[in-house]
Amino acid sequence: MPVTAIVGAQWGDEGKGRMVDALAGNMDWVIRFQGGDNAGHTVVNQFGEFKLHLVPSGIFFPQTKCLIGTGCVVNPATLLEELEHIEAAGVGTDNLFLSSRAQMLMPYHRLLDAAHEGRGKGSMLGTTKRGIGPAYSDKSARRGLRLGDLFHPDWLEERLEKAVAFANRELAHYGQPAVNPADLFEQFRLWRDKLGHRLIDPLPVIRDAYRQGQSFLLEGQLAAMRDLDWGTYPYVTSSNPTATFAPVGAGLPPQALERVIGVVKAYTTAVGLGPMPTDQGENEAALWLREHGHEYGATTGRPRRCGWLDAVALQVVAYLNGFTDIAITKLDVLDGLPQLKICTGYRLPDGRSIDYVPDTPLYETVEPIYESWPGWPANSTSQARSWAELPAAAQAYLNRIEELAGVPIRFVSVGPARDEMFEVNR
Ligand code: GDP
Ligand code: IMO
Ligand code: MG
Repeated sequence: MPVTAIVGAQWGDEGKGRMVDALAGNMDWVIRFQGGDNAGHTVVNQFGEFKLHLVPSGIFFPQTKCLIGTGCVVNPATLLEELEHIEAAGVGTDNLFLSSRAQMLMPYHRLLDAAHEGRGKGSMLGTTKRGIGPAYSDKSARRGLRLGDLFHPDWLEERLEKAVAFANRELAHYGQPAVNPADLFEQFRLWRDKLGHRLIDPLPVIRDAYRQGQSFLLEGQLAAMRDLDWGTYPYVTSSNPTATFAPVGAGLPPQALERVIGVVKAYTTAVGLGPMPTDQGENEAALWLREHGHEYGATTGRPRRCGWLDAVALQVVAYLNGFTDIAITKLDVLDGLPQLKICTGYRLPDGRSIDYVPDTPLYETVEPIYESWPGWPANSTSQARSWAELPAAAQAYLNRIEELAGVPIRFVSVGPARDEMFEVNR
């Protein structure tokens, strides 16, 4: 398939990184199409375990070109740290390129994110404090700086002054010291020297590669339930993780996208605030999932909120993304549980039930409607390498998810390592 997108189907951390790593070896390009270093995409392979923040999860295949796409916000300082870490593990990074049109995430974006989050409980969103919201705000307000600007110092200086003046007004509002643009120029020189050789303009490079029939894997960050337009606004990220945006962020035409793989964790987790109807709080089931699934944020280390699979949200997300395939991850984490639940509807306070995700003020009030499914406490899925080797109760659970989502399950993973997954052939 020339163009495939891999996107999160829940609230993030579904295992997108490991899915991209599994398919990247056969691709000409892997392109991260949105987000910034708020991502934590875990890849476990022969080089070790990596928590990738900005670098596409195809980096481990030297023949696969990796691009941080135009839809991303790039913090050059943390990217350089990430590259050092990857290279120290013996992985070459000559195959990494950056779109010259991607936004530069500046040190003041991080300061502003932290200041916004520090306003007290009523205003907090629970962000990763990586500066993502302020960087995308500057992009939309058309005062953002792009990586390619590093090669145009006069252009950059003029625009930096405007951007910094704006940031300083906001920082002053929060009682924070002002940023000095002259200090930033030192960093620009360093970033240009260290990253400049990786910059490409996706026009014409991606256009020509597409016309030649090269293959592309478009890697999403976060997930549809945190989509700026369709997620639990305002408890969302500041970009669009849905596949619809993938061609925009990558620099491809919309009809290029032939396959959309939704990565679905066998249960639900979220970090950050906002509604998640199947959240089990701190009950026995939640603690089981957190401990057996090691559900702590890859970027911030925060304990993830855990709960049962939400098939209402999944069905909506499958629709919005146009999923052609589902990849189920972390099925092994359910090994040992005697009973499982799937949320199949939401009840509103007036007693009516609905089959879609309503807007946030109403979403905060819904009660999940569950159906129960038997677990497979006497069996394990972790050794399974085919559908036939799964316990019958696990097959029944997955069949039901497939039915509720209306999309075929094509991959199942039962452990974090590269070989701990299989393609479904029934
Ligand atoms: P991403 O952000 O969507 O790439 O997902 P994360 O890397 O943040 O979170 C997924 C976590 O689950 C990582 O620690 C992975 O190593 C781990 N993981 C992925 N797939 C599986 C699986 O099938 N079983 C288990 N036990 N762990 C998995
Ligand atoms: P990956 O790609 C899980 C959450 C934050 C917060 C909201 C907004 O690894 O799945 P932001 O920093 O983007 O302004 O925060 O989104 N969030 C994530 N949750 N996984 C991530 O990335 C996340 N990136 C952001 O917790 O609720
Ligand atoms: Mg993650």
